Amino acid sequence: MTTAVTGATGQLGAHVIAELLWRGVAPTEIVAVVRDPDKAADLAAQGVQVRVADYSDPAALRAALAGVDKLLLISGNDLGRRIDQHTNVIEAAELADVKLIAYTSVLKADTSGLSVAPEHLATELRLTASSIPAVFLRNGWYWENYFAAIPQAIESGKLFGAAGEGRIAAATRADFAAAAAVVLTTEDHGGKVYELGGSDRITYAEFAQVISSASGEPVEYQDLPEAEYAAVLSAAGLPEVFSTMLSTSDAGIARGELDTDSGDLQKLIGRPSTPVADAIKPALG
Ligand SMILES: NC(=O)c1ccc[n+]([C@@H]2O[C@H](COP(=O)([O-])OP(=O)(O)OC[C@H]3O[C@@H](n4cnc5c(N)ncnc54)[C@H](OP(=O)(O)O)[C@@H]3O)[C@@H](O)[C@H]2O)c1
Repeated sequence: MTTAVTGATGQLGAHVIAELLWRGVAPTEIVAVVRDPDKAADLAAQGVQVRVADYSDPAALRAALAGVDKLLLISGNDLGRRIDQHTNVIEAAELADVKLIAYTSVLKADTSGLSVAPEHLATELRLTASSIPAVFLRNGWYWENYFAAIPQAIESGKLFGAAGEGRIAAATRADFAAAAAVVLTTEDHGGKVYELGGSDRITYAEFAQVISSASGEPVEYQDLPEAEYAAVLSAAGLPEVFSTMLSTSDAGIARGELDTDSGDLQKLIGRPSTPVADAIKPALG
């Protein structure tokens, strides 16, 4: 059984490969598909097969997926180009006769108004049309997404956002990776849609309280209109594309699009997700 992971030099991919190894998969049965082999030297040193392919290179993808049974397609980060890129990976998997594709999508991809959702939905639809059984890992937000904001919140005493009273069920990359590794190493996941969210489902006001307790500093949530929040982020030096993505994401949180009570993450990993207070520790300095 050979298991391939694309985006293997990324943050989620690194966790997935570590989880596969921890679950007893032989390194020689893991294929790390990477676009920059220099970044994969540690994987090669552990005996993992490193194969080089960019999502934009169909021929390289075909070669990289030769002999692969199960594939985790980690969504790329080239916003706006991902439908073609992901389609290339799926077509290469079809030619390589891959038996299962797991795809890292986004929570509620079929109804979400988040700006990132249409590319995920298009990829899901392409996978549904494929002859290869697919499983959708609809990941919620990573707690790590807030690591840049947390020190600023502690410093200023204000956590800014535009999520209103909306709840977010985020989880750590490591927990989402653990779920992906379970799906890759156990059976009967083809055709499943997993809505993956963390066990702590909290508002930003509650998140501010968590940051406050963890840091010992007073932090309160300051809710802003979406456009005003985008302006605050841009003024803090964020490129406009990220300011827009974060502010529109918060609007999605206000609509409940990054919250779920499905329990799917917990069922897959066999435990509650890492508590938010523990998840944010690396950001406390
Ligand atoms: N749930 C969330 O909160 C959240 C937040 C941000 C992103 N995401 C999505 O989840 C994915 C994984 O998250 P992450 O934290 O691991 O992101 P990441 O660290 O940016 O990793 C993305 C991976 O995709 C690879 N990649 C991007 N474009 C590629 C291409 N054209 N060809 C081949 N490989 C390509 C990157 O390769 P290199 O290592 O060479 O750069 C990297 O390994 C992201 O790419 C994005 O789609 C989710």
